Amino acid sequence: MSATLLLFVFMCWTASTHADHHQSCRSSNMTGVFSVVGLQNEIKALAPYTYDSTNKKLRFRTDASNPWNATMELDLLVLFEEGILYKIDSKNQSCVKKSLQSRLNPLAIPANAVFHGAMVFGSASIEGEGIKLNIWAIPTPDLKGNSYMSVSMGCIPFSLMHLTDNSMIIFSNINVELEVKDPDLLAVPSFCQGLPVEETPEGTVYGFMTEFL
Ligand SMILES: *[C@@H]1O[C@H](CO)[C@@H](O)[C@H](O)[C@H]1NC(C)=O
Ligand SMILES: *[C@@H]1O[C@H](CO)[C@@H](O)[C@H](O)[C@H]1NC(C)=O
Ligand SMILES: *[C@@H]1O[C@H](CO)[C@@H](O)[C@H](O)[C@H]1NC(C)=O
Repeated sequence: MSATLLLFVFMCWTASTHADHHQSCRSSNMTGVFSVVGLQNEIKALAPYTYDSTNKKLRFRTDASNPWNATMELDLLVLFEEGILYKIDSKNQSCVKKSLQSRLNPLAIPANAVFHGAMVFGSASIEGEGIKLNIWAIPTPDLKGNSYMSVSMGCIPFSLMHLTDNSMIIFSNINVELEVKDPDLLAVPSFCQGLPVEETPEGTVYGFMTEFL
């Protein structure tokens, strides 16, 4: 089991001892970068993203020219509200349209999330050297596991961790700016329009997260 995981579990345990009730919040529009890390601490993807928090639309495109040898190549447009995901291949202008059975969104606290506690990364006592985060537990039985989201006091999501018996995935939200810089990235490309929805195999659950498991 990785050190990251043990550390996180410990922090959650520490955090939960200080739990009180808290309001959920909705994040702003954002432009930033996701790092996606797996169970062996390998960096699966480094991906610039654009997020419209009003309409819950996410464009996620991996950057092949990253210094971490992240290997995944993905270009996804996720419409969480509609429950639709487009898998885009700009090179040959092709597209696959899928329906989302799991709507787990790395940038939104869902209605069924349970406040788990607050914690400080860094130092709580030295000015400017610590960051306070609220931790939310998100039941995700459809994905056979649990998820935890940490969110800053100003409602910027910091990380989403998804855990199952044999897998772990951590999304970290970095270099965030609170605006949609390029709204065109959130429009469905012309070559994706009018496609039929691809069937999800019987008995399986598809979601944004399952692209990384
Ligand atoms: C977020 O961006 C969309 C357009 O991309 C806009 O319609 C919406 O009003 C913005 N929401 C906020 C809270 O600024
Ligand atoms: C990336 O891969 C190259 C060549 O395989 C290797 O030399 C380098 O150390 C790797 N970088 C990281 C951060 O793993
Ligand atoms: C586009 O390329 C991908 C692989 O890069 C391939 O799987 C897909 O079938 C291609 N689509 C078309 C329409 O050529």
